[in-house]
Amino acid sequence: MPEKSDSFDRASLAQCNTPARSLFMTHAAGSLLSVGGLTLEAVGEILALSTVLENEDPIQRAQRLAKRRVALLFYESSTRTRTSFELAAKGLGADTTLVSNLSSSIEKGETLKDTGLTLRALGAEAIILRHPSSGAAWLLERETGLPVLNAGDGMHEHPSQALLDLRTMLAPLRPAHLGSGFEAVTAETLRGVTVAITGDILHSRVARSNMLLLPRLGARVILCGPPKLLPDVAAMAGPGIVVERDFSRALAQADVVMMLRIQAERLAGLQLDLDEYKAGYQLTEERLAEYAPGAVVMHPGPIVRGLELTGEVADGPQSLILEQVRHGVAIRMALVLRALTLGKEAGRA
Ligand code: CP
Repeated sequence: MPEKSDSFDRASLAQCNTPARSLFMTHAAGSLLSVGGLTLEAVGEILALSTVLENEDPIQRAQRLAKRRVALLFYESSTRTRTSFELAAKGLGADTTLVSNLSSSIEKGETLKDTGLTLRALGAEAIILRHPSSGAAWLLERETGLPVLNAGDGMHEHPSQALLDLRTMLAPLRPAHLGSGFEAVTAETLRGVTVAITGDILHSRVARSNMLLLPRLGARVILCGPPKLLPDVAAMAGPGIVVERDFSRALAQADVVMMLRIQAERLAGLQLDLDEYKAGYQLTEERLAEYAPGAVVMHPGPIVRGLELTGEVADGPQSLILEQVRHGVAIRMALVLRALTLGKEAGRA
């Protein structure tokens, strides 16, 4: 494996100032199926590459993947993830095509495997997949042999969201990691930072990916929500992760307040009293001012104004919600470049 690093985009890695070795320690070359499959070294390299690409002259950047083909395969609706992956791939010069379950032969019963093989036959060199079933990205990678970027699989993971969330919180809290020096990411990077993830933890792939990533960088993660959305199961907790039912107490400890939408589409008959929920867990200007006046507010989107947070908070000075969207393009450029570069290397091996 290590010899392949010699032929990986040397210029980008030289600018990243970190060894390429860890880029090969994923499940398959170029794929990103789970954020848990990334070493901290690889996380640092993706962050560094995202900064190189963000700062690069757009004309030069568009040469990197000119005429390469990337397919976006979306079985669930999406605004942020789909658009930012598409803009990222196009910004690198790749040709993209979107296949949606609502306007394709998926409606006629075509399987994920057959759709993936069809996209490969059409010249796709990587597939970005969103799917309602946990594990779908693994299956697609296995059946096609292509690099797959998991853009959200059921209630399981959303790894690119966790990476863009990390980039968003590093910008104000640890800016050296996004500067030209590319300070390495370590188990101490977020030491002393507390992230309170609040809301529908049970159904959230965003929460799961952040829980897999943030404690490895030294962050303390508080999970907060009512038992129906945050069951009392030991599996929810882990090293660096604690459960706090009282929202005020969670806020009072938080440097980052990460709010989550209630995923109505995944509740499967679960009854929730929304007035009771708002009384206990809605992020309001008053709560923020009283308990977390110095914290930043994040939300993966889509937000539901007036439910998990108020419009005033979403639009307020502590909100980084639109910054998250902006960071998403840079992170996804790095992921697409990594997928096509490493994927091609593997194909030649
Ligand atoms: N955060 C996120 O996944 O948003 P979309 O569903 O709009 O892609």
